[in-house]
Amino acid sequence: MDNTYWTERFGGSAARIQASTIRELLKLTQRPGVLSFAGGLPAPELFPKEEAAQKAAQILRERGERALQYGPTEGYAPLREWVAQRFGVEVEEVLITTGSQQGLDLLGKVFLDEGSPVLLEAPSYLGAIQAFRAYGPRFVTVAMDAEGMDLEALEEALRRERPRFIYAIPTFQNPSSALMPLSRRERLVEIAHAHGVPLVEDDAYAELYFDGKKLPTLFELDRAQGYGNVVYLGSFSKVLAPGLRVAYAVGPKPVIAKLVQAKQGADLHTPVLNQMLVHALVQEGFEARVARIREVYRAKAEAMVRALEAHMPPGVRFSRPRGGMFVWMELPGVNAQALLEEALKEDVAFVPGAPFFAGGGGENTLRLSYATMTEGEIQEGMRRLSQALGRLLALV
Ligand SMILES: Cc1ncc(COP(=O)(O)O)c(C=O)c1O
Repeated sequence: MDNTYWTERFGGSAARIQASTIRELLKLTQRPGVLSFAGGLPAPELFPKEEAAQKAAQILRERGERALQYGPTEGYAPLREWVAQRFGVEVEEVLITTGSQQGLDLLGKVFLDEGSPVLLEAPSYLGAIQAFRAYGPRFVTVAMDAEGMDLEALEEALRRERPRFIYAIPTFQNPSSALMPLSRRERLVEIAHAHGVPLVEDDAYAELYFDGKKLPTLFELDRAQGYGNVVYLGSFSKVLAPGLRVAYAVGPKPVIAKLVQAKQGADLHTPVLNQMLVHALVQEGFEARVARIREVYRAKAEAMVRALEAHMPPGVRFSRPRGGMFVWMELPGVNAQALLEEALKEDVAFVPGAPFFAGGGGENTLRLSYATMTEGEIQEGMRRLSQALGRLLALV
């Protein structure tokens, strides 16, 4: 059977599910010898390999019947309780998900219809755009700066549109590394509440702050006002290991109950062994582990900023991350896709920013990830990138 036999038989939503442009590009960047700043992967040297090996063996030996049996859709109870305690909420307000990526998909399933508006930042996390796109919504995008979503633009959009929810990544946003300050967070929570529009806070990078200061989440600010208008997504991917696929949604009980029903149809539950392992890993030395991850990423981020300051030609703007895994760059009148082609000749790669803009635009932007690179590779990579850029700028 050829391709068309199958494509003619797929449902309507299959047409909306497309291979991510980034995934296609990443294939090119995986050539041996390429210094790739393209991926968004956490640093593997920080994975808790030894502890995980010991604890997984112990769990399987001592509680194997439970670890290998079907489990509740809501999640492994002790892990749910751990999350509930950390957030000061009831257990019924917590759902364990298979990565926060699943949380995004379930939110799409529960809240979005074909043609319904959903509001997000421009740029925003590509995985969220992909997850929501499968449900056929209309993307309403709001511009942002280094301090997150532009709230004037948000209010303006909310005068025209009634989105099913606002999706925001206020902390070390992927891809822009933007950090929303407290006053803007407070105002965002107020605006969402005043307009009766739920706020989805994706906080995948919450713990990766470099300067010792953690800002209150939108979730906390909303609860402090007694609104209950925020659904929060958290994840163990960036603080333990992404391959475990363990994350959580925290929100009002009716939302969590509906997400549970949606999850039943998706995967029945997140693997019990992985949840038990995550629970075991957060019992001991978790804070010290996260502190070490912060230190490692801080050093890499500083190395990248130093290298960019040393090498980049004038007119190039780049973010100075205060946490997370990314540097965001704006090029002066140069297309980032064209730069990638030139950069690959120098064996260096990054992700062009345009796919992160659900409403189009951003052709002169790009994202660099420093998480998996050594300081030496960062120096050399930024030198090569500036050479490629220099050649293009000479043509402009
Ligand atoms: C903003 C954001 N949300 C969600 C995810 C997905 O994370 P998880 O591994 O928990 O599915 C990522 C992963 O990179 C991300 O950057």
